[in-house]
Amino acid sequence: PKILVLNGPNLNLLGQREPEVYGRTTLADVEALCRDAGARLGVEVECRQSNHEGVLIDALHEAGRAVKAGALLGVVFNPGAYTHTSVALFDAIKGAELPVIEVHISNVHAREAFRHHSYVSPAAAGIVVGFGVDGYRLAIEGLVRQRRG
Ligand code: DQA
Repeated sequence: PKILVLNGPNLNLLGQREPEVYGRTTLADVEALCRDAGARLGVEVECRQSNHEGVLIDALHEAGRAVKAGALLGVVFNPGAYTHTSVALFDAIKGAELPVIEVHISNVHAREAFRHHSYVSPAAAGIVVGFGVDGYRLAIEGLVRQRRG
């Protein structure tokens, strides 16, 4: 089975966007490191990014069906700012009964108060926060361990 790495809004700007917060690594670099981390564990990694809430929800539904079919282990998901606003993402993950590891590059708890609450966390199977882009690798390893036991 595969892993889906799903990135939400503005993460296409990684590398140029607030580099003091998010670093200089581009999304293409992140996706390459994810495929690499998966390969070392013998898992194929598929990467997607969207700036649109509904597109992310459709991707989560599709992932839920793939998990049920045994084709997908789960999803490593950085929902970007929708983390802090989207009941719809929470419902999508719950509704799809989807194993999701939530990732944030920055330590959201050390930042503005509006970043301290996550709608996604109560539906997540694990959370990786504040390790920079290395968090994606940690999340992939954690998801594989959790799902393979
Ligand atoms: C982020 C943190 C969010 O608060 C922010 O809106 C992002 C990126 C992170 O990876 O640190 O877009 O999810």
